[in-house]
Amino acid sequence: MVPLLLLCAAALPLVARGAIPAPEEAARMARFVLHNCDWGALATLSTQEGLRGRPFANIFSLSDGAPGPHGGSGVPYLYLTDLEISVQDLEVNSNASLTVSLAQTPYCKKHKYDPQNPLCAHIIFCGNIVKVNDSEAGLAKKALFSRHPEMESWPKDHNWFFAKFNITNIWVLDYFGGLKTVTPEEYYSVKP
Ligand SMILES: *[C@@H]1O[C@H](CO)[C@@H](O)[C@H](O)[C@H]1NC(C)=O
Ligand SMILES: *[C@@H]1O[C@H](CO)[C@@H](O)[C@H](O)[C@H]1NC(C)=O
Ligand SMILES: *[C@@H]1O[C@H](CO)[C@@H](O)[C@H](O)[C@H]1NC(C)=O
Repeated sequence: MVPLLLLCAAALPLVARGAIPAPEEAARMARFVLHNCDWGALATLSTQEGLRGRPFANIFSLSDGAPGPHGGSGVPYLYLTDLEISVQDLEVNSNASLTVSLAQTPYCKKHKYDPQNPLCAHIIFCGNIVKVNDSEAGLAKKALFSRHPEMESWPKDHNWFFAKFNITNIWVLDYFGGLKTVTPEEYYSVKP
């Protein structure tokens, strides 16, 4: 009896710290994975000479709020400059896809889940990138600079600006049997 009690007591803080949601809670899973990720792969439609119209995936730092157990806003904020090759694509066509995966957290390594294993949960967002207005820029700055302190020292003459991924479609890959879709309404209304 005693070891069982001890086990239960030991398990409690994990839940309190925001353990991974159950696979049937797809909207919460999407929020959980995004909040636990510091970066993602962003695919744009290339405008480069010789590559025009072809998919082009690149890594971007992101944040939906300060790290920690209490969820986040769910909004993937980004810090961008027009000098960046993918941002040049977005100026022509802001449509994009963003993928985040628990492969970048200790979770999949601890459970020995290969990144392509659905149990190593990954989320695919489709939508477009939009510049945020001045009032939202404060939130975006707090979200990004708390996780990516180096951003504060990035060259001022690059004209960095705050942006967000405007989510229109969400796919959740967190279990066997195919992917699940979540609407942006479900995603933003769920308690993370
Ligand atoms: C972006 O995607 C939307 C939705 O599919 C589409 O209506 C729009 O034409 C696309 N924008 C461009 C610039 O291709
Ligand atoms: C800024 O953007 C936010 C989020 O889209 C919106 O709720 C708010 O009304 C906007 N503020 C202004 C002053 O346009
Ligand atoms: C965000 O996405 C919605 C749905 O596709 C679209 O109607 C809206 O225009 C987008 N917002 C911006 C600022 O591009």
